[in-house]
Amino acid sequence: MNPFRKRTGIFPSYFTGRVDELNELREIYESTKAGAAEHIIIYGPKGMGKTCLLIKFEEEFSNVNEVYPVRIPLVEGNFDDIYSLIVDKCADTLKVSVSHFWDNITKLGVNIPLAGGFTVSRKIPSTSPSVALEKILQTIYGELKGENPILILLFDDLQRIISNNGPTKVLSILQNALVELNLKNMNIMFVATGSHDIFSQIQDHVDSAVRLFEPYELQPLSYKELKDAIVIPAVREDVDFTDEVLGLIYEMSEGIPYYMQVIAYNCFNEAVNGKIGINEFKKSFRTSLNLLAQREFRGMYEKSSNEERKILGLMAESNQAVLSYKDIKDGLDLKSEPSFWLRTMLDKNLIIKKSRGKYHLRDKIFKEYLKTFKPYKENGTI
Ligand SMILES: Nc1ncnc2c1ncn2[C@@H]1O[C@H](COP(=O)(O)OP(=O)(O)OP(=O)(O)O)[C@@H](O)[C@H]1O
Ligand SMILES: [Mg+2]
Repeated sequence: MNPFRKRTGIFPSYFTGRVDELNELREIYESTKAGAAEHIIIYGPKGMGKTCLLIKFEEEFSNVNEVYPVRIPLVEGNFDDIYSLIVDKCADTLKVSVSHFWDNITKLGVNIPLAGGFTVSRKIPSTSPSVALEKILQTIYGELKGENPILILLFDDLQRIISNNGPTKVLSILQNALVELNLKNMNIMFVATGSHDIFSQIQDHVDSAVRLFEPYELQPLSYKELKDAIVIPAVREDVDFTDEVLGLIYEMSEGIPYYMQVIAYNCFNEAVNGKIGINEFKKSFRTSLNLLAQREFRGMYEKSSNEERKILGLMAESNQAVLSYKDIKDGLDLKSEPSFWLRTMLDKNLIIKKSRGKYHLRDKIFKEYLKTFKPYKENGTI
């Protein structure tokens, strides 16, 4: 049995690290319990471990009296879908019937537009989104048992809703609803995850819409944490990763849990007599690159423009990890300034700005993909 995970969104066989993050969440919980609700948005690039952190936190509280964690994986859609999602997930967790919820919500005189084009009540004019959300959450909170119940809302992938509505709007709707509810002494704590750029998207519109939400950037795993995540499940299967291989996995994945899992998964399949040494690593690495190419990298490359591809090619072929603005301009012999393309590449998370005028590829394994498959050679981009 291979104990590693090939995909994101699946809980690992051994959950490593995240000590600070879980402590932060516990503090927010304590504060909310004491009547001073706090809210947080945890953000990071694909595969950094956002979903699993939410699952871990949800599990920790799933059997605690008067605490109700509800995890809501958001789907691409508009704000109207969010109402049904929240109600469905809460009904599920609280074991209440959905129709019972909607009955109570209707009784509050709320007219909520629902996905599929029908509304809860046709007589009343449509309620504003933040009031609708407030009433829904109020109704849900009313269903909770106990003196001082705590509702923990865990929204996974907030950017899915945000992208269709403009970044600030959704957060200001959430903020208005949460402020009202907290003022009414409802202990509701809100935790969301979002893509790497969720805050930079919002900061462009400098605005108070986000002051309620503490930004928290999810960091890569340390070497020790990564080692535990590989060795502990592997030993259970009587498989041994050499230290050299562990070092290489750390180097290649840069502590990003998704990459670590994919590489370890493919290494595991190559084990010879229960051992994974450098040869097994090398043999399997191509498969890992292939898998990541099919799932992520090829699409990222194909979505880029010709100019962007040239920059990607230059950065991939360079011996330096970090290139300056001048390196890029001179390296491609450009007549015009590349600043526009660098900007779009930053937005697409193809490259990262290390400091002023210094850029590198989004991560090492993406560079490895480009160098190995050389997609820019295929159609003569370079
Ligand atoms: N703390 C951890 N210990 C071990 N493995 C982890 C940990 N966190 C995440 N993983 C593994 O890494 C992979 C990615 O995790 P996860 O799905 O949580 O990332 P994500 O940030 O939600 O990704 P996406 O951006 O696709 O939503 C999964 O295979 C998961 O099992
Ligand atoms: Mg996720």
